[in-house]
Amino acid sequence: MRIVSGIQPTGSLHLGNYLGAIRNWVRMQDGLAEGDECLFFLADLHAISMPHDPVSLRAATLELTAALVACGIDPARSVLFNQAQVPAHAELQWLLNGTARLGWLGRMTQFKDKSGENREGASVALFTYPVLQAADVLLYQATHVPVGEDQKQHLELARDIAQKFNNDFASADQPVFTLPEPTIPPAAARIMSLRDGTAKMSKSDPSDMSRINLTDDADTMVRKIRKAKTDAEPLPSEEAGLSGRPEALNLVTIHAALSDCPVATVLAEHGGQGFGPFKARLAERLVETLAPISARFTALLEDRSSLGAILAAGSARARALGAPTLDAAYRALGLVR
Ligand code: TRP
Repeated sequence: MRIVSGIQPTGSLHLGNYLGAIRNWVRMQDGLAEGDECLFFLADLHAISMPHDPVSLRAATLELTAALVACGIDPARSVLFNQAQVPAHAELQWLLNGTARLGWLGRMTQFKDKSGENREGASVALFTYPVLQAADVLLYQATHVPVGEDQKQHLELARDIAQKFNNDFASADQPVFTLPEPTIPPAAARIMSLRDGTAKMSKSDPSDMSRINLTDDADTMVRKIRKAKTDAEPLPSEEAGLSGRPEALNLVTIHAALSDCPVATVLAEHGGQGFGPFKARLAERLVETLAPISARFTALLEDRSSLGAILAAGSARARALGAPTLDAAYRALGLVR
């Protein structure tokens, strides 16, 4: 198994990122068998596909590195790096641009969403974003790529690109690329805004009360849970009773994810209760889980030079791991090096 995944360094990490993605990465890392390998990277090259501020990007890259390590990504066991220090990502993207079809990219829903009304004004990078993402995983012969539901289409594109490249430029018994499998974490990990149970928890929501940040102190977390939107009914004892109650569903989902148990178990314990006592218990669980992470995060952030060293060391390992595949891709295309 070769597990590869990336995350964009845009702004700070929140509970949704942790329960939806990062915790899953840590578990994959911790469950690895001998000979398997995990590569996790900061997709800083992807971050320039949208308008961005260079100073913030730099800070966000180091901050996210600290956050990942604080959450349990161990740079001694996983290869932790940033794309910008591994030129092979950009090189392989160019090579794959010859294989990716305009029509395939035109069907990507993320491009349609992110380019919005003003498609003519979108960057070319936003359009070719999925080709870079394909390069990210194909470069390392990834077998498994843990991503959220929203990235599944990009992974399917990566498979299509790999297949067409192998087909057009490699012999059947010696393919250049491995077809990666997307692994989607359980739906329970979809964490929604605390102000609106139908919108994803997001760092771009203008209201800070809508999310729990990794940097929030215990009092802030408790206050945000206390003020989280709910409805007037007590909690149901069965899952069916949550339908049409997105805010109640979200809080129960968060509780279940933090306690690592099914939603039904939370309802069996709290069904019939009002939100007052339920929220108090939820806030306790939240602080138990996040306080140690937040403390490690703050300590790591104070040591910028060791964060830089972690990325430098991880990037060196990534460059070595990617080199044979990049070479094979150049050769397959008839490029003389
Ligand atoms: N596009 C992904 C996201 O926004 C981040 C990403 C970039 C990624 N490259 C990747 C994820 C490669 C998995 C594999 O979430």
